[in-house]
Amino acid sequence: MERTIEEINEKALKELQAASDHEAIKALFTRYLGRKGLVTQYLRNISKLPRDKRPEAGRKANEIKRTLDKAFKEALKRRLSDTFEKDKEIDISLPGRMTLQGSLHPITQINRQICDIFEKLGFDIVEGPEVETDYYNFEALNFPKNHPARDMQDTLYVSDNIVLRTHTSPVQIRTMERQTPPVRVVAPGKVFRCDSDVTHTPMFHQVEGLLVDENISFGDLKGILTTFVHQMFDERTSLRFRPSFFPFTEPSAEVDILCVMCRGKGCRVCSQTGWLEVLGSGMVHPALYENVGYDAARYTGFAFGMGVERIAMLKYGIDDMRKFFENDLRFLRQF
Ligand code: DAH
Repeated sequence: MERTIEEINEKALKELQAASDHEAIKALFTRYLGRKGLVTQYLRNISKLPRDKRPEAGRKANEIKRTLDKAFKEALKRRLSDTFEKDKEIDISLPGRMTLQGSLHPITQINRQICDIFEKLGFDIVEGPEVETDYYNFEALNFPKNHPARDMQDTLYVSDNIVLRTHTSPVQIRTMERQTPPVRVVAPGKVFRCDSDVTHTPMFHQVEGLLVDENISFGDLKGILTTFVHQMFDERTSLRFRPSFFPFTEPSAEVDILCVMCRGKGCRVCSQTGWLEVLGSGMVHPALYENVGYDAARYTGFAFGMGVERIAMLKYGIDDMRKFFENDLRFLRQF
């Protein structure tokens, strides 16, 4: 014998009570009151009952259908407001969780400041490879093979002819090979040397500068570098050009700036000299023009190269260069 409508009702209510979530209640609704649900089917089958039983059975079944429908809707509503109550348990007065914000590495910042100054003076930014051939790193820059000048730079060799570039100067050659004068570029980038102490790391950064045109003199070099130093530090920072030697410039000069810590009085940072060495420079050696096919009788130019870490150390008063690369966030976050 089929189940009576009362039995169906009782079972539906019991299951509804046990239903734990929204999904379960909806599934039960379909099972009992859906188009093919048990109550719906029961109602459909009433027409098969003996004629005199039909009115009473119909009335009872419809009433049960109505009350069940109501019970389901209420259960759903209760579920929703329970969830709402739970949401209210979030204490909106608590401080939020901070997301960590990244920032630029101090070396990147100084590197950009240097390049910005030269860009405003009309220089283009160019780059070259970090792994170089012996030709670009030495030969084309007038370091003859087996010349002791190569010992100035503790080179990291990849193979006989391939090196990790020891300076950004090879970008001078690559630029001149690519374009004809006027040339006005700065080339920032990583360089590598077999060296490590408080003022040296095996990898560091340089910015190279090169300007070639007709009628360029040492006076132009002094003018550009003076403007640079005044903008990078301040107008009170005077410069001193000291004769020096580089194979790729003639004459060559090392540039010192007045000590930014003691203003020339002499301190620990400037080893009591009152001056700090910040870059190398000079007039481009005619041999380089020959190597790139420029007319050495027509063009003259100057070049310079500086260490980015050195500038950053002076600007921020940092005494150990290795700190830049230890990636201690307590250090890096200060910039
Ligand atoms: N390349 C040199 C070095 O790494 C720096 C330098 C000196 C670059 C004089 C120049 C220059 O362009 O003219 O020590």
